[in-house]
Amino acid sequence: MTDYAFLLLPAMNKVYAEASAQLSVGELGVLNERILGNRLRDIAEERIGGVRYIRFAADSLEERDVRYLSNLSSIYALFEIADGLLRPIELRPIDRFDDDLITIQKYQGKTNEHFTKLLLNVTFASTSFAQEMFERRMTILDPLCGRGTTLNQVVMYGWNATGIDIDERDIEAYEQFVSTYLKRKHIKHDLQSSAIREKKKQVGRRFDVDFAPTKEEFKAGETIHLTALSADTTLAPQFFKADSFDAIVTDLPYGVLHGSRTSQQELSRRPLELLEAALPAWKMVLKRGGLALLRFLGTNRLT
Ligand SMILES: C[S@@+](CC[C@H](N)C(=O)[O-])C[C@H]1O[C@@H](n2cnc3c(N)ncnc32)[C@H](O)[C@@H]1O
Repeated sequence: MTDYAFLLLPAMNKVYAEASAQLSVGELGVLNERILGNRLRDIAEERIGGVRYIRFAADSLEERDVRYLSNLSSIYALFEIADGLLRPIELRPIDRFDDDLITIQKYQGKTNEHFTKLLLNVTFASTSFAQEMFERRMTILDPLCGRGTTLNQVVMYGWNATGIDIDERDIEAYEQFVSTYLKRKHIKHDLQSSAIREKKKQVGRRFDVDFAPTKEEFKAGETIHLTALSADTTLAPQFFKADSFDAIVTDLPYGVLHGSRTSQQELSRRPLELLEAALPAWKMVLKRGGLALLRFLGTNRLT
């Protein structure tokens, strides 16, 4: 058995304080069980030189294991422990874009970025497609997407992302962000905006954008597809075919600022009512073997 340890991202400590290590142990536990065949042992927080690490043991780490570990939401640096010394192991994250895709946007009501990544990782690891992470472009739905924190993380992985939010202003602001980001970074793209009409009346808007991290991929048609639209989430099957999504990841509304709304646009503070109405619709568009993971925010908000 060899011992390993990883250093937690400094930002995680600031945001979650005490909870960060526990969350990381939990996330690694899911990865271990669902993907790494329970080959990691004794996962626990440990202080080395006064700094917090997550330590574990394993017979060995294959290249593929390191690739999975590299995408943990809290990992900063990974080491093998030999004779009490830390030997660095190079991380190989799946990330296809610069970090600022995730960090630039700042607004009230934004879901914490690290927590969003953890939700995506844990959800994906729990689907039947978890072993295909590096082989295929996944398609993920955030059915309450706000201004796109989950969608950005999905795109960061080079996957297709789809978002629905009832608030047209959120979709507008997100489109603005995406369009500016792609232009500023000189990322080749094709963006289409359109109105959603019902009986000739405009009831919402959507945008669809295809882009690729490199010009070569864009030219070859190996593009990432990102869509976001304003609509009541319970209407998801009107916009998307059955079995469209590999997984659903979302942050449920809470309180007044992001209160859940019925189709009549009434503000309600009952996310459970929204869930009850939306789950059958979400199930219809989710692939068999996909999994929906939701965060319920009560008084102990983590953002
Ligand atoms: C907690 S926020 C999501 C924030 C998002 N993750 C972000 O970082 O921008 C929940 C979102 O649910 C949306 N929402 C509430 N009821 C809805 C409904 N019936 N259909 C679609 N979206 C809804 C709200 O407008 C809000 O943007």
